[in-house]
Amino acid sequence: MESSLLPSGIAEAHAAFPGALEACGDLDSLLRLKGAYIGREASHAARLMQILKDAPKEQKRDLGAEINALKNQWEEGLKARQAVLEAQKKSRSAAGVGLDPDLPPPMPGRGSLNPLVRLMDRLVDVFRPLGFHVEEGPEVETEEHNFDGLNIPADHSARGSSDTFYFDRHPDLLLRTHTSPVQVRTLKRVAPHLEQMGGVRFLAPGRVYRKDEIDPTHSPMFHQVEGLLIGHGIGMHHLKGSLAYAMRALFGAGTSVRFRPSYFPFVEPGCEMDVRCPLCGGQGCRVCKGSGWVEILGAGLVHPNVLRFAGIDPAVWSGFAFGMGIERIAMMVSQTPDLRLFFENDQRFLGAMGGLD
Ligand code: PHE
Repeated sequence: MESSLLPSGIAEAHAAFPGALEACGDLDSLLRLKGAYIGREASHAARLMQILKDAPKEQKRDLGAEINALKNQWEEGLKARQAVLEAQKKSRSAAGVGLDPDLPPPMPGRGSLNPLVRLMDRLVDVFRPLGFHVEEGPEVETEEHNFDGLNIPADHSARGSSDTFYFDRHPDLLLRTHTSPVQVRTLKRVAPHLEQMGGVRFLAPGRVYRKDEIDPTHSPMFHQVEGLLIGHGIGMHHLKGSLAYAMRALFGAGTSVRFRPSYFPFVEPGCEMDVRCPLCGGQGCRVCKGSGWVEILGAGLVHPNVLRFAGIDPAVWSGFAFGMGIERIAMMVSQTPDLRLFFENDQRFLGAMGGLD
């Protein structure tokens, strides 16, 4: 290096480089050397770039060329040494050097259930003491189960292809838009035995689909848990009592709930239920948007037409139903701002997920 443009410290560093390279006996020390010479900050190269930046305009060209030449030499030297060290490491481990047969083998990372599945399991546990078992239904449904059996009229907007995924070659099939078709299937199945069974009560957790663009709070695929209870003389008081119990089991003994009238074709009367915001206790926060309440589910007394469709006499039997969106509850409880995190299988997120057990 003959240039006078560079400060003397650099010349010394460059002179020391080959020796320092040779002295690196493993990849860790090579990495440290790399940091010292060409690292982004506080390295010789970084210092040179600063010198170049501050240099008078007419010197920049020559100086730049010189600096580049130096950096290239360092980069190549480091690369070559890295290849040597990597090859050494490989042959050493192939020969069993450095292997301690007394140590336990490295264990594969332990997986866990997805937080949404854990929350659904939790709900099942909460309702089990009330006599609810689990029912399932297919995700590819018929219009009959998804709509007709639920008293959803032909002109209802949910039936349009802009809201629902249909199949080109099977015009009668669709991806279910809610878990409510499990009501229809199960009621049809148990109708002839309802008297011996003394009624029926179940939860139906599962995936549902709607034609939504994906964003932090919407997804074309999401999860719901449906609940249905059929018995004699069932009224809103049964619905309210069961749901209040469940919310206290889920969010804590002091949790209040409130019911607001609402409309779903398959219940009459219909309502929505809010819980006192479990995060701020009703003071008002970002999660409850300052209102102190968060909407949790839709519910109501089973519409007589739903019972009739399944072959059950509404003069003898009555019941309540509810359906809740799982992502919303999971996001709230875990304070997760973006529901996509639940589906992307990033271990850093899934492994850190608390608050849902
Ligand atoms: N299926 C309704 C929905 O997806 C929720 C619901 C279920 C409402 C049962 C009332 C009774 O929005």
